[in-house]
Amino acid sequence: MGSLLLLCCCLVALLIPIQALVDINVATANDIHSNLNRTTSPCTNFWNFACGGFSSASEYVDNFERVEDQFASAMVEFMESHLGENDTLAPRLIGQMRLYYKACTADARTLHGNPRPEELVNHWTLHPKKFLVDGLNGVFIDERVDVAANDSMGWVVQIKMPDPSAKYSDLRVLQLMRLYEEEWYTWGVFELVEKMHQLQAEYRAENPLVYTWSYSELRRQIPIPHSFFIELLGGNHTEEFDRLTFEVSDVEYLRECFRFLRDFSSEPKDTYIRARQYVLLEESEPRERNPRSCIHHMRAYLPLGMNYIYDRFIYQNREQDTQKLQEILSNLKATFRKYLDANRLQLTPDQLAYVREKLKGIQIKIGNLPEEKFPEFYNNHYRSANFTMTNFLANLLEALALRTRLQNAGLLERDSRVDLRHYYVNDNVRKARTSPFYENERNTITVPMEFLQWPLFDHRQHAIFQHSLLGAVMGHEMNHAFEQEGILFDAAGNESPVGLEIRESQTFRDALKCAEQPPFVSLKERLADLNGLQLAYDSFFGLDHDSRKFEYRPYTFERQFTAPQLFHLSYAQFFCGSLPPVIAHDRDDERVNVSVGNLRQFAYDFNCETSHSTNCEMWRPREEASSNRNVHP
Ligand SMILES: *[C@@H]1O[C@H](CO)[C@@H](O)[C@H](O)[C@H]1NC(C)=O
Ligand SMILES: *[C@@H]1O[C@H](CO)[C@@H](O)[C@H](O)[C@H]1NC(C)=O
Ligand SMILES: *[C@@H]1O[C@H](CO)[C@@H](O)[C@H](O)[C@H]1NC(C)=O
Ligand SMILES: *[C@@H]1O[C@H](CO)[C@@H](O)[C@H](O)[C@H]1NC(C)=O
Ligand SMILES: *[C@@H]1O[C@H](CO)[C@@H](O)[C@H](O)[C@H]1NC(C)=O
Ligand SMILES: *[C@@H]1O[C@H](CO)[C@@H](O)[C@H](O)[C@H]1NC(C)=O
Ligand SMILES: [Zn+2]
Repeated sequence: MGSLLLLCCCLVALLIPIQALVDINVATANDIHSNLNRTTSPCTNFWNFACGGFSSASEYVDNFERVEDQFASAMVEFMESHLGENDTLAPRLIGQMRLYYKACTADARTLHGNPRPEELVNHWTLHPKKFLVDGLNGVFIDERVDVAANDSMGWVVQIKMPDPSAKYSDLRVLQLMRLYEEEWYTWGVFELVEKMHQLQAEYRAENPLVYTWSYSELRRQIPIPHSFFIELLGGNHTEEFDRLTFEVSDVEYLRECFRFLRDFSSEPKDTYIRARQYVLLEESEPRERNPRSCIHHMRAYLPLGMNYIYDRFIYQNREQDTQKLQEILSNLKATFRKYLDANRLQLTPDQLAYVREKLKGIQIKIGNLPEEKFPEFYNNHYRSANFTMTNFLANLLEALALRTRLQNAGLLERDSRVDLRHYYVNDNVRKARTSPFYENERNTITVPMEFLQWPLFDHRQHAIFQHSLLGAVMGHEMNHAFEQEGILFDAAGNESPVGLEIRESQTFRDALKCAEQPPFVSLKERLADLNGLQLAYDSFFGLDHDSRKFEYRPYTFERQFTAPQLFHLSYAQFFCGSLPPVIAHDRDDERVNVSVGNLRQFAYDFNCETSHSTNCEMWRPREEASSNRNVHP
């Protein structure tokens, strides 16, 4: 056994699929066993039982880091090879991605440390009026392109005050200014930043009113300069801009902010913007530049290029994975339909029809890539970016501007609508997503290709591993469609009065109240956790499964744990990792414990004493409905 485990480790390290030599189910079961910590009983702290040994068994922080590392190794190998060098489909894109990677790994110049004042003022050639075009969002205002609440295919430009987190970037700016306090160009920056913070504190609201305005209306309401939009959107006629819809929040803040800026001298404004741009670069560049960190950086900033290359040159199992994931999704949907038949929330026929339609419409997408098959689309997508092999920081500026340009692209075209063939997620993240995510407006779950790697998933695994881990994650994402925010959106991703009606109903509100026991980070995450695990469990074992009534034949790959026990252990692997030492109760252990604690079968499966506290169930049929049929031993 010892040598077998050793063999696994070496092979993982070499990135050779272990499954070729060791049965994938044996490997998975071994992995689960190596993470156990038997000093606690599964009944008292299940997370510690399932995951408490992880940190001593694994060199990684968690299983996410592990699959991200596998992804990075494969991409490093690609980047350093000659693969795709004479490609006929997307030679430009592949060339650009290699240039970026080369400069990232080879150019030793970094920003770390404090810039010399001349650098700050002169080095950055960017024009202070064009800061949004250069990707510097959240200075004075926050601008993003989204879709309308009542039309998920129609673009809107959302404008609001900067996110509270932008304060940290401002603090760094002030720190830089203090270094050059005696210089003329720091004059006024302190006053400017202080005024902005004061206005933001004064007008920040929990749920700000959102106004839907035309461009002319926006200009009437807020003294925002015309040049700002010319730079951002490329057009120059008010009539062109009037084709756009603006969703504006924090109106009083914006009004005061632009009034103040209009009368404030431009020198400190420009210095402030340049310093913020500098800080943005500091925040964006990898902390240390090496092949892997460069890949992770590129995953976040150049997602289309990275996913395209991974999909074409590295990803082997798209077909098999797609089939498995579709199977899991349709199982989950079938179970949810049974829930709706029982109608625990006593929805009206109209409301039920609404939920059924939405359930039916949930799509799954493997990898954050557009549907487009035409290679020219990919080859040209980054065409406007000028990357070089020698200057990483210049490339980073290009990448930031490119990302913003792509977000704003085509807005001014006549009758511009969301083009689903070209749609993918390209938002302002610094760290790419690895875990699956659900988008209300698209009614779609995206499963990043990073996630579809052992030990999180393998298409050859036994169904119990797939349906417990990925099944519960997909159950979680699906339930985002039906929590207090998601329920507002209909099957097509438009906000609907029927959804609001459901949310206001007493039964729905009671279900929320039940889940609202502390500690929790976010109510919708809690709901998705509880309902997701229940949905996955019911989909695998059937409704009203009761392990006390069965004897389980052992699996060939797992002799100690019964099927329901193995299900819970495999589910927990998603959350296994080393907890930060400072916080005794991190999200992950709580999430596991609270989720299994609200699954009534969990206590039966591990022969725990059942507590009499109520389980929070929302959609799942009530136990009473079937308990007459059950004869409890
Ligand atoms: C989870 O752990 C906490 C202590 O960390 C414990 O109070 C709780 O009962 C545990 N729940 C389960 C179901 O393991
Ligand atoms: C198992 O859990 C206990 C209690 O939390 C802890 O003290 C111990 O270090 C853990 N053992 C291992 C091998 O991680
Ligand atoms: C690409 O073409 C060049 C020039 O013909 C050749 O030297 C090189 O080996 C080719 N690379 C690959 C990976 O085939
Ligand atoms: C969407 O909402 C806006 C603003 O409330 C309104 O002007 C527009 O007519 C609505 N569109 C649809 C299709 O309901
Ligand atoms: C501004 O308008 C003129 C005349 O209509 C046009 O030729 C020019 O290209 C426009 N400039 C931009 C930046 O779109
Ligand atoms: C790209 O950048 C290089 C180096 O900065 C410059 O020489 C070249 O003119 C640029 N090309 C374009 C098309 O902007
Ligand atoms: Zn979630």
